[in-house]
Order: sequence, then structure tokens, then C-alpha cells
Amino acid sequence: MRLNALVVLLPALGAQGIRIIQSNDDGWAEQYARSFHNALIAAGHDAVLSAPAENKSGSGSLDIEPSPRSTPCQYDSCPANSGPIGRNETSPRLNWVNSFPATSMRYGIDTIGPQLWNGEGPELAVSGPNVGSNLYLAVQFSGTVGAAVHAAKNAKIPAIAFSGASEGTLAWNSPEEPRSRVYAELAATLTNAVIASGKPYLPEDVFLNVNFPKVEGQCTEASQFKWVLSRINVGLFSAPDTEQCGSTRLPTELSVLDTDGCYISVSVGDANDKTTAPAEKQAVVRDKLKSMLTCLP
Ligand SMILES: *[C@@H]1O[C@H](CO)[C@@H](O)[C@H](O)[C@H]1NC(C)=O
Ligand SMILES: *[C@@H]1O[C@H](CO)[C@@H](O)[C@H](O)[C@H]1NC(C)=O
Repeated sequence: MRLNALVVLLPALGAQGIRIIQSNDDGWAEQYARSFHNALIAAGHDAVLSAPAENKSGSGSLDIEPSPRSTPCQYDSCPANSGPIGRNETSPRLNWVNSFPATSMRYGIDTIGPQLWNGEGPELAVSGPNVGSNLYLAVQFSGTVGAAVHAAKNAKIPAIAFSGASEGTLAWNSPEEPRSRVYAELAATLTNAVIASGKPYLPEDVFLNVNFPKVEGQCTEASQFKWVLSRINVGLFSAPDTEQCGSTRLPTELSVLDTDGCYISVSVGDANDKTTAPAEKQAVVRDKLKSMLTCLP
């Protein structure tokens, strides 16, 4: 898709790189997060990773002060007895926090990011891409979502949670897998589109919950994927959604991922309860992303 290439290139064309804080729940040394970090840096952004020292999948919004480590970090990525927080000394943008995803996001926003940004805070928060989908009910328990929601709700920083259906853990220092590269490219494309849409990047108290289908079959290059506005929970008794594709009921993210054809779900989440945001907030996001959104067949 020509559009995607353009959006990825926007910073190179003169749009500004911004300060982005990044977290995940699979651990700071997980390859998906590192590929995404590299894509954000390549796009000209001032990205800083602040993520758990090890896999803290499924911990939702838990937030507890980090405690000193006695064992090495995930994949031997830090030595034993390294304290409660630490960083890669040769790449200080890469930081770990020995606690939960929401805690690592909080430290990234309050402490770690500002130390690298001359005291300033982040302009945008991103989380993931998670190893595995975070759809519908799973959104409540997801640490990837928990980190994004901390940013949106507690710190009032626009936030996006990314998840990829292709699973299997990968260490940061193993050869880059195509799925890690494709998810990073897709996540950077949406991030850049949100930034290019101007401030405020997202309405207050919302986060985007973005789910990529598997990287396989007809869906092996970023250009083959398409973006669909969706809702997190089933909308049986909910107020109407914003109008999109000739309807005032958006497809659920589950149904988007179940449709053949490389469809990515983009749900506008309510940071207060992790369900679908109201129609007027969906409409703001729809208008911002209009040029890249498509309809399901
Ligand atoms: C993290 O742990 C969960 C289960 O606790 C597992 O499903 C997931 O694959 C793990 N992720 C990584 C990157 O190890
Ligand atoms: C730390 O950064 C260096 C590059 O500066 C890299 O070679 C190394 O693999 C990184 N280690 C971790 C655990 O991030």
C-alpha cells in the first residue's frame, strides 16, 4: 500500500520526531519490543523503552514499587543482583524495571524518560507489540493494555497498545524474525499516522487497542495489511457507535481478526474501564485515521 509507505516516511519528509515512552508486558528483552523501538528511532522519534525485567504477561494494571533483583533478567539480559531498575549501559534508551508493566510505564513517564529528555515528559506512550492477541475479555487482564491505560488515565498521555497474533518468544539478541519486523513496521505506521494527525493526538482518557493478525499465508509484508475501526466488547445493548462503513455498530475486534484478508483491528478504548469508548471519541479517531481505514468485505 502506497499510503503506508508515505506515513512511515513522514518524519523524513519534515514532520517532527517526538518523545515516545515505550513499554510492554513480555519483558524488556523481548524481540517484538526491540524491533518496534528500532523502528521508532529509525522514523526519527526520541523513543525510550521502560519495560519489565521479565515476562509479566497477564498482570493487568497491577502497580507495585520495584524490588531488587536477585536473579538475572529475562534471557540473561541483566546480571544477578542488579537492583530494582537498570539499563543497558551502552544504550541508555533501553531500561528495565523489576515490577509490573504499569509500574514500568509509570517509571518511564515520571523518571527514566525525563532523565533522557532534559526533564521533559513523553508526548505519546506505546505498549507492545504483545506476543499474542489481546482481544475482548483478555483486554481486562493484559499487562500490555495495563501499561497503556496507566499512561492514558493516570498520566493523561495519549497511549496505544499493540498486540500480534503470531506467538512464540524471541530473545532480543536472536536473529530478527520476519514477524517481529512486520509488527514493528505496522506499529510504527499507526504511531506515525496518529502523530501526523496533530495534537491532541487522542481524546482524553482513551487508548487505542490495536491487534495484528498472524504474519503468515497472504499476510507476510506490512503492505498487505489493512486497518479496520472496531470495538472491544460486543455492542448488543450499547449506545450506537460512530458511523463507519455505513453502520453505527462497529465490528468487534474478534470479528475483524476472524475475517480472512490481513485485517488489523483498531479499537478506541475507554481508559476508565477498558471497554469501548463512546461514539464522540470514536469519531475523533476515525477522522484522524480516515485515509488509512478500510471496511470489512
Ligand atoms: C509470558 O508468559 C505467558 C504466560 O504466563 C505466556 O503465554 C507468554 O508467551 C510469555 N511471553 C514471553 C515473551 O515469554
Ligand atoms: C545493549 O546494547 C548493545 C548495543 O549498544 C547491544 O549490543 C546489546 O545486545 C544490548 N543488550 C541488551 C540486554 O539490551
